Amino acid sequence: MRRRVGSSKANRRGLPRRESGQRSQRIAPSPGPPTRWGSGDQDTAGAVHAPIAHDSAVGHVTGEARYVDDLPEPRDLLHAYVRLSDRAHARVTRLDVGPAAAAPGVAAVMAARDLPASNDVGPVLPGDPLFADGVVEYWRQSLFAVAAESAELARKAAHLAVVEYEDLPAILTVEEALARGSFVLPTQVMRRGDPEAALARAPRRLQGRLTMGGQEHFYLEGQVAMAVPREGGDMLVYSSTQNPSEVQHLVAEVLGVPHSAVVVEVRRLGGGFGGKETQPALFACIAALLAWRTGRPVKLRLDRDDDMIITGKRHDFVADYDVGFDGGGRIRALDLTLASRCGISPDLSGPVNDRAMMHADNAYYLPHVTITSHRCKTNTVSNTAFRGFGGPQGMMAIELVLDEIARHLGRDPLEVRQRNLYGGRGRNHTPYGMEVEDDVSGMVAELAHGADYAARREAIARFNAGSVWLKRGIALTPVKFGIAFTATAMNQAGALVHVFTDGSVHLNHGGTEMGQGLFVKVAQVVADELGVGLGSVKTPATSTDKVPNTPPTAASSGSDLNGKAAQVAARAIRSRLARCAAEHLGGSPEQVVFGGGKVRLGKRALDFAEVARLAHQSRVSLSATGFYRTPKIQWDKKRYRGRPFLYFACGAAVSEVEIDTLTGEYRVRRVDILHDCGDSLNPAIDRGQVEGGFVQGMGWLTTEELWWDEAGRLGTHAPSTYKIPTCGDVPEDFRVTLRRTRSREPTVHRSKAVGEPPLMLAISVFHALRDAIAAVGGERQSPRLDAPATPERVLLSVEELRARLDGPSADRSARP
Ligand code: MTE
Ligand code: MOS
Repeated sequence: MRRRVGSSKANRRGLPRRESGQRSQRIAPSPGPPTRWGSGDQDTAGAVHAPIAHDSAVGHVTGEARYVDDLPEPRDLLHAYVRLSDRAHARVTRLDVGPAAAAPGVAAVMAARDLPASNDVGPVLPGDPLFADGVVEYWRQSLFAVAAESAELARKAAHLAVVEYEDLPAILTVEEALARGSFVLPTQVMRRGDPEAALARAPRRLQGRLTMGGQEHFYLEGQVAMAVPREGGDMLVYSSTQNPSEVQHLVAEVLGVPHSAVVVEVRRLGGGFGGKETQPALFACIAALLAWRTGRPVKLRLDRDDDMIITGKRHDFVADYDVGFDGGGRIRALDLTLASRCGISPDLSGPVNDRAMMHADNAYYLPHVTITSHRCKTNTVSNTAFRGFGGPQGMMAIELVLDEIARHLGRDPLEVRQRNLYGGRGRNHTPYGMEVEDDVSGMVAELAHGADYAARREAIARFNAGSVWLKRGIALTPVKFGIAFTATAMNQAGALVHVFTDGSVHLNHGGTEMGQGLFVKVAQVVADELGVGLGSVKTPATSTDKVPNTPPTAASSGSDLNGKAAQVAARAIRSRLARCAAEHLGGSPEQVVFGGGKVRLGKRALDFAEVARLAHQSRVSLSATGFYRTPKIQWDKKRYRGRPFLYFACGAAVSEVEIDTLTGEYRVRRVDILHDCGDSLNPAIDRGQVEGGFVQGMGWLTTEELWWDEAGRLGTHAPSTYKIPTCGDVPEDFRVTLRRTRSREPTVHRSKAVGEPPLMLAISVFHALRDAIAAVGGERQSPRLDAPATPERVLLSVEELRARLDGPSADRSARP
């Protein structure tokens, strides 16, 4: 019915397809920025699988791309400011907002008692009050908000209010919460086999603990919302959110109006990384409430410090393991306990911790296993989604276990990892019962070979033998990451496609663009279906009145879900157009072919625009909706059994580092990555996701350290004290290969999700650091190192290891 506009066209443009095993650093830019109607190459620019630049690439660089704060400000706009608590846990004995309300330029002040309806913006379960009501439960919880003529006046006024507290005892850490039995949700256990008996029988056994820090999202655009009242009590909200539908629903609930009275619009986010999956609701709701109260538009934009303080982060975790294994390093049984700091409310902590449990196997077969997950309630801001969504923390636990086994046995950690990978008879089911069909073992072998692991391991040993203070280390770690929301109902998507009578196309779907390239990928799919250039397909802002009841753009499934829904919608229009063209040209609709902006039947051809016009003349609808639900998945939440994911996205990385044992400073010398994107919809975008995800993961495990004081105050709330990676921290030698095998599952054009999995490839950097530290004491030494492995921690680890080796009373019993 249509000509494929796939790889052959990409080749005609001189853009080679990347083959697996081929190393390459750069992708040629696409011929023209397909940002404006008609500017794309009509014949080729719509090809799926082609390395096309991000649709906003030029706009991002020139500053033309508009974010919420760049929108033209409506007349009468007010600015909001939120006053926050000064205590981690206290009764509010006095809250006098009178002086704030009387301050110059103030139009409204709202606190809990002034709300028309709900005071809760909990996304899944209640527990996230918009404004504290009588008690504050974490430092910098919102107390009330002020709307004034300028942001400055609002801020000044807010600080005039009088707040008095009576302190209550606060629980701040995972350890305290565990000791006091303080949880946001009940403890969960996943089990297979008989781990107690298998542990008791195992020839060897090790126990240990790892603590992992959280992570600040540090999106470039902070949290922001602008609410504009419309007639009849309706509200339009511009929000920087990954979840427009949820913001719509929560705004409606706090205003006490039906969902249909609220529209949420999102053109793009300046990064979300999970930090805008639930968190934007607070700000959107406050802006909407103040707009409702004053009848004027209200904008609420946080400054960086407030943003870092008010919003939840990646969960920090403590992992305790007890592992039994044989002399070859194969795991017989594992008893793993994960405990995370959830903060004050459930937010997304249920699914985040579930995902940690489901990734505590990573790519390894665990015959007998218990995974216990404690979801600790603390008087800190509620932690939330962050790229990987608990998966990284689960994987860190098992990767440490394998590294410890290897060092205990004096074997190469890669050998021990390989020995435990899924594969072989009876060794291909996860602890929750899903079959692993991916050949991670093959990928690991391919990467080890391609990256010269064995030769470099030897070279590093030689270097270390000859170097007293500088030590090098290397590590290879795999990633196997489940793709789908574990909440089965969320795996659905809608789209709405319009073709206009000049042949131009409007593509609406429920996904949000946050820099990850979703819009260009879905547009490629639609352009391919209709056989038009990418320049003909415009994706306007995501809006809840175009495509309703959507899941967040999250779980890496944005292009899987929205790509399929948009494909369904575009196909519906195409088949109507095929009928029109067949009638006009004489022939059957099945013979009609769409491609290159033309509609062909045999030797005759019409412009796509001409066919659109003909269809309109014949009173044929040029709009269609599309709907998609992920097939095959089913999940028994109570028993932790089933197939929660459609498939796994897999990859592997080798990292090599050099540490200075006198200062703890280090460099990442080289990184080799092999990552499976299926038959990538857009290898240029996917490469960016792999590189960016890896570097973000590296930040989490190396330099990004969150620090709270004993009063529960976050000390690291600005780039001056919180160190994210910069371009100078990107590995000196960074070799990324996309493995482009077609997805086994019927995903959109057989591509695979790529948004989150590469972050976890950075676990190889953490283990390369451990390897380098271990070199201080010879092979069998196991360093004590928690994450993030800041230079300070690396230095302390080196010194601890040296003390262990030197001291006569050194503690050698706990570790090999
Ligand atoms: N890439 C950029 N540039 N900015 C982002 O905010 N978020 C990540 C990932 N890549 C993010 C990103 C996260 S947490 C997810 S879940 C996916 O993108 C979401 O988009 P997708 O489902 O379309 O891949
Ligand atoms: Mo991503 S953490 O699923 O938004």
